[in-house]
Amino acid sequence: MNQFAFLTHPLSMKDVVRYAPKAAGKREPIVLKLLEWMPPYEASDIRGVRTPMGKEIAGNFVMVPLMPSQFLNLERPTVIDRVKRAALLGQELGAQMIGLGGYNSVVGRAGKDVADVLDVAVTSGNSYTVATALQGALKAAEVLDVDLSRSTVAVIGATGSIGSVCSRFLAKRVPRLVLSARSKSRLKVLAETIQRESSTALKVEMDLGRALSEADIVITATSSGGSIIQAEHLKTGAIVCDVAVPHDVCREVAQLRPDVLVIEGGLVEVPGDVDFGLDFGYPPGLCLACMAETMILTLEGRFENFSIGRGLDYDRVQEIERLAERNGFRLAGFRAFDEPVTQQKIEQVASFIQDSRKRLRVIS
Ligand SMILES: NC(=O)c1ccc[n+]([C@@H]2O[C@H](COP(=O)([O-])OP(=O)(O)OC[C@H]3O[C@@H](n4cnc5c(N)ncnc54)[C@H](OP(=O)(O)O)[C@@H]3O)[C@@H](O)[C@H]2O)c1
Repeated sequence: MNQFAFLTHPLSMKDVVRYAPKAAGKREPIVLKLLEWMPPYEASDIRGVRTPMGKEIAGNFVMVPLMPSQFLNLERPTVIDRVKRAALLGQELGAQMIGLGGYNSVVGRAGKDVADVLDVAVTSGNSYTVATALQGALKAAEVLDVDLSRSTVAVIGATGSIGSVCSRFLAKRVPRLVLSARSKSRLKVLAETIQRESSTALKVEMDLGRALSEADIVITATSSGGSIIQAEHLKTGAIVCDVAVPHDVCREVAQLRPDVLVIEGGLVEVPGDVDFGLDFGYPPGLCLACMAETMILTLEGRFENFSIGRGLDYDRVQEIERLAERNGFRLAGFRAFDEPVTQQKIEQVASFIQDSRKRLRVIS
């Protein structure tokens, strides 16, 4: 049976306690110090991934016990060494394909550093993440009757591995596109590429509030460490597809903004009766698209470095989308803030959108 390993890490203290109950009640600085010294370890066996045609694979979660802030703030070589050791552990466990979850691919040149030390294949999973983020955002627009061809779209984290492919795809389909991130020089390079490829009205905006103020649809995929998008940033009726893990959208948005629809990007239903052996916070049978990509490639026996490096190819996005469908993987229903998005919530946002369209007609 083909085999994979997926590298994961805790996103919060809640995750640390879920994975290591002995951490309960300990102060966060102490826990962080302990994590700093902890080696990667095999966290669980994954069983029951089975396609509708009956093909089956097995896998392991390998834990890199570092929090997002540690990935960002500890010395880069130390962090990359930890990720490489975790990937090598996956290889020792028999994996033919290693998937890099969360910040394991944000560091180390999006998988290139890990690829250098492995005898087996590796993927960041970002191609299928792009595919499902776009599928989710477009589906939400359709459900809310928001016409893409009249919309302003903002991509936050636009220069990243995920953000740049999303930006280039959307530029060919929307009249106005806002690109946002922190590095002006990287934004400039991306903007020049997009201007060559499309006729969209392009705006580069490093100020997050200004980038979001006019956006009807937002795709956000930063490696900020989370919670950068505040309630006051968003326009009435905005659709926000939050791909970032940890999420870019603050939890307060759920209470303070009944007029916007936030959906988690990149959530996927896994075929079969999967037992992950680890509670990573989602209902049974759901996982993130980056993990799904690792499983799809393993099912297909495509043991090659698939999505690595920052400049992803849109052909790969289309290819993994086709392979996902063939193997029975599907976009999950909308979720946000750890819960399913209800029909009532969708109708509530739809009525805000209708009211604001009526007001605009009265003014004009
Ligand atoms: N849902 C899923 O299945 C899934 C799968 C894979 C990855 N992810 C998540 O997706 C996110 C992006 O991953 P990636 O591989 O594309 O990362 P990446 O290549 O490192 O790109 C990150 C982007 O975020 C920008 N950024 C970082 N901090 C920022 C801040 N404070 N404000 C605004 N922009 C900021 C970066 O540009 P500057 O540095 O210039 O600001 C860059 O454009 C991560 O959170 C990752 O965990 C989710």
